[in-house]
Amino acid sequence: MPGISFDRAVAYYDATRGYPPGVAEQLRDAIVATLQLSRSARLIEAGVGTGRIALPFIEAGYFYVGVDLSRRMMGQLRRKLNGRTHQMHLVCGDVMRLPVSDAAFDAAIMVHVLHLVDDWRQALDEARRVLRPGGAVVLASDERDGQEGAPRTPRAQVQQAWSAILDELNVPPDQRRDGAPHGLDDRFQEHLKASGATVERLTLITYRQSPQTVRAVAQRYQERMYSSCWLLPDDVHAEAARRLQQWVDNHPDPDAAHEPPARIDAMVARWG
Ligand SMILES: C[S@@+](CC[C@H](N)C(=O)[O-])C[C@H]1O[C@@H](n2cnc3c(N)ncnc32)[C@H](O)[C@@H]1O
Repeated sequence: MPGISFDRAVAYYDATRGYPPGVAEQLRDAIVATLQLSRSARLIEAGVGTGRIALPFIEAGYFYVGVDLSRRMMGQLRRKLNGRTHQMHLVCGDVMRLPVSDAAFDAAIMVHVLHLVDDWRQALDEARRVLRPGGAVVLASDERDGQEGAPRTPRAQVQQAWSAILDELNVPPDQRRDGAPHGLDDRFQEHLKASGATVERLTLITYRQSPQTVRAVAQRYQERMYSSCWLLPDDVHAEAARRLQQWVDNHPDPDAAHEPPARIDAMVARWG
């Protein structure tokens, strides 16, 4: 496998990663404005999943190609379109070898996929290969863990507790996937710049997240809903889940609902 397929996540991906109503459309509009995309723009998304990012583009009539290792994730996207016809093509394939010709797209979009692939450099190089002159690679990233100095969100609290538990259990980095660069890691920017790109970083949109509690977020780790849990051996995961439950039981307010602010940031690369 050239990456981590999300086949196993299809049943809960949208419920656990989805945006509140209207946010995906705002994100589309921000990308369109940033790239100054015309209605006839041709877009490709590497690691399209269930269409969390793609759907508003597709529904607005953009020509959109989605590539993913997981047929099941893309099947979910098709179901959402409910048989309506669009300028959309979904292809089962590897983002490190995009099954499309050179110089065919105005933008290549990647959201939360580079940390899952075997070679993120090759995936970035592929994204560039398929761009028309003047096209852009857009990496977007959910920044959901709150601003510096603000109270820690339930998500950030649980993440920190989980990480401390994995430390206690001496879980090696390859089983926790700590080493893979996430989000808008500086290494992506360096690689893009080294290939001659001009790279711009910006916040695309800000919004309020749906209500979340410490208990509900912890349950997602306990039920292995995040890819960071998938490589843990079963016995290690069971012990970590037990310790996380103890931590929840000792938390002062595990059921308090928070709607923390969040942003979607981007790195946009263009070649002159
Ligand atoms: C976290 S999901 C993100 C989906 C979508 N971009 C979004 O933001 O909702 C990552 C997706 O990348 C796919 N994936 C992982 N490695 C891949 C690879 N080498 N080639 C194609 N898809 C891959 C997974 O199957 C999954 O659907």
